[in-house]
Amino acid sequence: MKQPRSSDELGRDLGEVGYLADEGLATIAYLALAMQRPLLLEGEPGTGKTALAEALARAYGLPLIRLQCYEGIDATQALYDWDFPRQILHLRTVEATADRSQVDAESVEQSLFDERFLLARPILRALREAPAVLLVDEIDRADDEFEAFLLEVLSTNQVTIPELGTVRATVPPIVVLTSNRTRELHDALKRRCLYHWIEHPALAREIEIVRTRMPEVSQRLAEQVAGVVSDLRSRGDLLKPPGVAETLDWTAALVRLECDDLDLETAAATIGAVCKYREDIDRVRDALSSMLA
Ligand SMILES: Nc1ncnc2c1ncn2[C@@H]1O[C@H](COP(=O)(O)OP(=O)(O)OP(=O)(O)O)[C@@H](O)[C@H]1O
Ligand SMILES: [Mg+2]
Repeated sequence: MKQPRSSDELGRDLGEVGYLADEGLATIAYLALAMQRPLLLEGEPGTGKTALAEALARAYGLPLIRLQCYEGIDATQALYDWDFPRQILHLRTVEATADRSQVDAESVEQSLFDERFLLARPILRALREAPAVLLVDEIDRADDEFEAFLLEVLSTNQVTIPELGTVRATVPPIVVLTSNRTRELHDALKRRCLYHWIEHPALAREIEIVRTRMPEVSQRLAEQVAGVVSDLRSRGDLLKPPGVAETLDWTAALVRLECDDLDLETAAATIGAVCKYREDIDRVRDALSSMLA
């Protein structure tokens, strides 16, 4: 893998695959790569946490291995599991074909824990396939035990499968963890990571993001959409302030309607691409005219 030599270079590399990082994010991501430390990203929904891991993988031509966390996730879903139905099938085949007097129970049992019956889950794959980008998405949804397990793997970059032995990454994977902060993560995990809080982008950057992701959109429309979204965020009374995802969605909706100059009527008719709560829509409708003035 090509190693960026500076945060500027990393910023350019990400820019080439359509991800525009601000200086703070480019610096911390550069350090995470250079120091081989996991990167923990927190921030409002839709601010590009998941997209950063995707962009890193694309920029450096690495496989992206994604572990989506959820309540109740455990090591068998993250690390490995045995393919039970295939093991049973194997056992039946041995039973049906082997000469009973010659069957050695111990070796049959051993043959059940063979590589071909192993189901490698994301973390094991990331250790084996490294260099790779391992995205541990929405870690705050998993519980404490899972976090402790993850910490162990991240500290050693190896796992032991009792029946097979130890798997160690030849190169540590680039690890990106994201959290929406539905709960605080433990200090021990944070200590291992470099941390960055992703803010909503500044107006100029958001216009640039729209123009980069949708080159067919006019500068004027990009400015109007990003301007209204930025005003909506600064109101401070919305249940869910729109993220970059909503800005891009809204722009795509307007392109669909062949709208090249955002007027009040079209903005009101398409506001459902930006606000997804009835209360927010009610609040926003009345204010749109001043935002578009
Ligand atoms: N800096 C950026 N440059 C380019 N595209 C961006 C940027 N930030 C966000 N996006 C785009 O915005 C959309 C939402 O980003 P993403 O899904 O990564 O957000 P998230 O922070 O992971 O949100 P959630 O917390 O809801 O999972 C994606 O289409 C992503 O590509
Ligand atoms: Mg995400």
